[in-house]
Amino acid sequence: MKKVARAWAPASLSNLGPGFDALGAAITGLGDTVSVELTTGPGITVDFDPYGAWIGPTDAQRNTAAVAARHVASVAGFDWSSDSGLHLSIRKGLAAGTGLGSSAASAVAAAVATEALLGGKLSEKDMIAAVVAGESATSGQGHADNVLPSLMGGFVLMRSAHPTDFLRTEGWKELLLLVALPDAEVLTRDARKALPATVPLSRAVDHAARLALMVAALERKDVADLGSWMMSDDIVIPARRHLWPWLDDLAGAALGSGAAGCTISGSGPAVVACCSQSGDDGPQVAIKRALEQQMERAGLEGSVSMHRIDNHGALLLDGDQAISWRTGQRIPNPIL
Ligand code: HSE
Repeated sequence: MKKVARAWAPASLSNLGPGFDALGAAITGLGDTVSVELTTGPGITVDFDPYGAWIGPTDAQRNTAAVAARHVASVAGFDWSSDSGLHLSIRKGLAAGTGLGSSAASAVAAAVATEALLGGKLSEKDMIAAVVAGESATSGQGHADNVLPSLMGGFVLMRSAHPTDFLRTEGWKELLLLVALPDAEVLTRDARKALPATVPLSRAVDHAARLALMVAALERKDVADLGSWMMSDDIVIPARRHLWPWLDDLAGAALGSGAAGCTISGSGPAVVACCSQSGDDGPQVAIKRALEQQMERAGLEGSVSMHRIDNHGALLLDGDQAISWRTGQRIPNPIL
């Protein structure tokens, strides 16, 4: 049996307007790396690479990566009672509390590395259960709209984890995402407390129709419609708007400089704008500049970065190569 395995999983956007808890998308350029090593145990230990973007809890009961790894190992038949255990080393590429699926990326990378280390191939259903369990350790609820895209890449619409019911579709090369990340932390656990417990039937029907129209726009690769439906949520964003006082001004700046749409990602604070690339000096350049200028005007520290949809999802790292968890395809290791 191998002694150590290493995996990487991408950051992700989630909700995207009416897709609350149901729709998410993996993005390029940001993600977490987890190495899992066999130890003499017992149990799971965790440490964080001090050069990573963030240091989280090392308590294995509360650590999202440890919870996902434990789930995978248990399904794979790992003998926790013998003198054996697992050690997880986490390198965070993104801080927690950003709205970009930080906990999900750690849970997914840990699950993929543990599966490889123990030499098994879990069913898709078991892997999904493991990463959802990891996410629950952080947010208090097992929403799958970050973990599924991080595991599988592309856009994923998830209806239910039990039974496993989802639809996956790929991003296309002209679709660009500009992510403005103010230097603020919004804990998903807290943002969920702001949500209404019930919604009137008429509003639920309207919300379902908006999400269906947005998914149709994705299937047609229609950026204008995608952008417009991204901004169309009458339930979750209004209830949480006080958490993101910068949203309207950033969205105004992005739309005013050519973005097709702009909304909050997950529970924030990240704001995401979309556009269709047309050449190197297409609208993306003006949108990025407008978002940066607006952040400066509002006195917000932070950054604006440009991404595409990551269609590979989680990768098992193997020297200068990486292997997609979903397809088994080998690609050059993107984090070398
Ligand atoms: N769907 C989750 C929420 C995502 O909005 O609470 C958390 O980033």
